[in-house]
Amino acid sequence: MRVGICGLGTVGGGTFDVLTRNAQEISRRAGRSIEVTAVAVRSSKPQFDLSGVRVVSDIFAVADDPDIEVVVELIGGYDTARELVLRAIDNGKHIVTANKALIAVHGNEIFTRAREKGVMVGFEAAVAGGIPIIKAIREGLSANRIEWIAGIINGTGNFILSEMREKQRDFQEVLAEAQELGYAEADPTFDVEGIDAAHKLTILASIAFGIPLQFDRTYTEGISAISQLDVQYAEELGYRIKHLGITRRTDKGIQLRVHPTLIPEHCLIANVHGVMNAVLVHSDAVGSTLYYGPGAGAEPTASAVVADIIDVARNATVEPERRVPHLAFHPNTLSDAPVVGMEDITCGYYLRVQVEDRTGVLARISSVLGERGINIEGIIQKDVAASDADSGWVPVVLMTGEVTERDMNGAIQALEALPEVAGQIVRIRVETLDAI
Ligand code: HSE
Repeated sequence: MRVGICGLGTVGGGTFDVLTRNAQEISRRAGRSIEVTAVAVRSSKPQFDLSGVRVVSDIFAVADDPDIEVVVELIGGYDTARELVLRAIDNGKHIVTANKALIAVHGNEIFTRAREKGVMVGFEAAVAGGIPIIKAIREGLSANRIEWIAGIINGTGNFILSEMREKQRDFQEVLAEAQELGYAEADPTFDVEGIDAAHKLTILASIAFGIPLQFDRTYTEGISAISQLDVQYAEELGYRIKHLGITRRTDKGIQLRVHPTLIPEHCLIANVHGVMNAVLVHSDAVGSTLYYGPGAGAEPTASAVVADIIDVARNATVEPERRVPHLAFHPNTLSDAPVVGMEDITCGYYLRVQVEDRTGVLARISSVLGERGINIEGIIQKDVAASDADSGWVPVVLMTGEVTERDMNGAIQALEALPEVAGQIVRIRVETLDAI
C-alpha cells in the first residue's frame, strides 16, 4: 500500500522511522507491504534517508498524487490541514491524521465527505498519543452504555503539574523543557490553556455517546493560574491537582469540561505523572476501565499513526457501510442530546480565600456558605508566613460538599463582597471519580 506523508516533524519523523524499522512485522500484520512513496516537507534537508521516496515541498502534490492510496496528515493546524484532507478525500484517498484540532473542529464535515467518497479517516493518534483509546472505546467497549470519561489527556500539562508538585519547579522552565522534548504544541498556549485537551475531549465524547463533534460547547480552563501554593495545600488535604477532561451523561444532557481538578491522592489517575496520559472510562456492563500510556512524543504518537495505516490496509476492501463508523455510531443514529451549560454541573470545590486575621471572620464565611446550603467538609487556616505577618491577612482553604456551579458562583460573589475578604477567591473543582 502506497502512503504519502505530509509533514516530517516530530510525529512525521517518528512515523517514518517506525514504518521503516518494523516494515517486516507490519507487512505480516497488514497482509501487504506498506511503502512511503512520497513525503512533503517544509525544510529542504530532512534528517532521514529518503532514497527512493519522492520529496516535495507542496503538500497538495501528495494529495493529488495518483500513485498514493493513503495520505498521512501531520502538518497540524486547522485551515490548511482541512483543505489538504478534503482535497485528498475528493481524490479518493484514505486519510490518517494525528490532528486533534482538525478533527474536533472540522471532523463533522470531513467525515461526511469521507462517507460520500467511501474512504476511511483514521485519527487514533489525535487523542492520548500512543494509547489506543479510540479503538478501545469505539470497538472494545461497543457493548456498553458509557456513563462518563475522565482523562489526563495533555502530556505537557501533566508534565508541568507533576514537576511543580515533585520538584517545586517553575512553570515556565518546565514548559520550555516540554517544548524541547517535542511534547508541546506548536503554540504551547494550546497545552497550558486547555485547548489541546478540549480538542481531545470533544472527540472522546462523540465516540462515547454518539453525538456530533462540538468543540465550541466544551468548557475550557487551563493550568496557567495554578500556583505552587495550591499544589501544596491540595497535597496537605490528601489530594492532587490534575488537569482533567471530563465528559458525563446526565439527565440534562452531556457535560463537556476541561479544567484543573482536585482528585484524592489514592485514585489511580492521581498517580499518573510526567508526560503520561490516562483515560478512565465508566460504562454500565464492564464498570470502570483505565487506559494508561505516553500521551505525546515522536514514537508513541507514531505507534498510533502506523496502527491506523495498518487498519486502512486491512479494511480498504471492506464495503464502506460495513466499516467501523468514524464516530462509533452509525451517522444517521447520532444523538441530539444537548451539551449541559457549566452552571448546571455539580461537584465539590476547593476555595482559597485571603481573609483578615481577626475574630469572627471564619463564622462570617461559614454563614455565607451555610445560607446557600453549602457544606464545609474541610478547612485549613495557614500560619501567617513571617513576610506576611504584618499585613494582617491570612489564607484560609475550604473544601466544600457537592453544589451546583451556579450556587458556587453566587457564594463566591457574596464572599468576595465581604470587607474581611481580600482579592479574588481561588476556586478549583473537586471530583472523587468514584475513588478508582
Ligand atoms: N501537546 C500534546 C500533549 C501532544 O502535550 O499532550 C499530544 O497530543
